[in-house]
Amino acid sequence: MVETVEQPMPSTASRRSASPTDGSVQATRLADISYDGGQRIPVAMDEFSRVLGGGLVPGSLVLVGGDPGIGKSTLLLQVSTLHSATQGPVLYVSAEESPQQIKLRAERLKVVPDELLVLGETDMTQILAQIETLDPGLVVIDSIQTVFLSELQSAAGSVAQVRENTSRLMQFAKRSGVPVMIVGHVTKEGTIAGPRVLEHMVDAVLYLEGDRYHQYRVLRAVKNRFGSTDEVGVFEMTDGGMREVVNPSQAFLQERSGNAAGSAVAAPLEGSRPILIEVQALTTTTSYGNPRRTATGFDLNRLHMLIAVLQQRVGYNLGAQDVFVNVVGGMRVAEPAVDLGVIAAIGSSHAGRPVERDTVFIGEVGLSGELRSVSQLDRRLNEAQKMGFKRAIIPSTTYRGPSDRLKGIELVRVSTAREAIDAGLAAPVRSS
Ligand code: TYD
Ligand code: MG
Repeated sequence: MVETVEQPMPSTASRRSASPTDGSVQATRLADISYDGGQRIPVAMDEFSRVLGGGLVPGSLVLVGGDPGIGKSTLLLQVSTLHSATQGPVLYVSAEESPQQIKLRAERLKVVPDELLVLGETDMTQILAQIETLDPGLVVIDSIQTVFLSELQSAAGSVAQVRENTSRLMQFAKRSGVPVMIVGHVTKEGTIAGPRVLEHMVDAVLYLEGDRYHQYRVLRAVKNRFGSTDEVGVFEMTDGGMREVVNPSQAFLQERSGNAAGSAVAAPLEGSRPILIEVQALTTTTSYGNPRRTATGFDLNRLHMLIAVLQQRVGYNLGAQDVFVNVVGGMRVAEPAVDLGVIAAIGSSHAGRPVERDTVFIGEVGLSGELRSVSQLDRRLNEAQKMGFKRAIIPSTTYRGPSDRLKGIELVRVSTAREAIDAGLAAPVRSS
């Protein structure tokens, strides 16, 4: 526990007393406000740009959060470099690493940025002074937990420091129109360290997710004042930095083995983009009292529910079985449309029956074992067809006639989880 003493900032106090009361502040009719659609500063990295909603909005404050070592600094250094090549100087403030370390990283990335300025500094007053003198087109602060204002008594990373530093950057961004990106650390609980208010203050919050032992990283917007929050960008961490993954379905499915039991393909929609993923499941007899249920990349409560459905509605006896579910590639999926894929994977493992070849599972599963329709089925089916799938198990409720472009894929309409398993699983394999 650290005691935080907050002193009123002189600037805030004087601003308050200077508020005009003579009626010079007036509300405007919404209809009279003109808006030109908003210009965006293009970002030369498509996957990053997509998550932002199509480029950087001038004067916006973007927070990029993520676990340590996940690749935040790498990604932002790459974005800064690309940005500086096309849009003029970028100031990369590294409060965590020395300029030499940044140089080392840039060499690893094999980029020689001409217009990228690096500042190794933790004192916010100095940083702001440099920003004013250099007048860059983009500012990156890495990270907000390590910069400090000396007039505040508390340590860097404390609630008061993080809030006041962010507020200073915000004032600068709004006044100058220069976009600012800040890196935020993530705590063990998975939220950005420091006050929640940080997320309220900024215009956009992006999370870089993934498993640091896997190569794939997903950049996801959880808040975006200038665009939708459900677009994702997919990257691959390579020797030479983050590489954009243009075809995520292909990437996530490439290591799928032929016909092992316990693997099924689902088609969640990430924003406007369907991404095919492999769900793996393993069921084994419980050796200690309570059966274990573990989910990686999938919601554990949802898994408990699906296991209950398999138990009660499909008739699988999973009461004394440990159940492990894993979404391959480090992707995290939350959409109910993957329910059927999870059910199929668990069912497949438990019954020792591999999933039929080239079959994709799409559908939400309800508590009575019924299948529920999913949104934008066409797009998902289209992606499945593109990836070479020949059959799709889908809820009978959704889909009438297939549109012409979906001719190459057989649609198997089922109404319950049990029917889906019957239609989607092949005959048992004999394990040797
Ligand atoms: P980093 O960007 O420093 O993570 P963060 O800022 O989120 O803490 O990246 C850390 C990891 O990325 C590090 O373990 C090494 C790895 N890495 C690569 O695999 N390839 C590369 O080109 C670079 C620069 C880093
Ligand atoms: Mg870093």
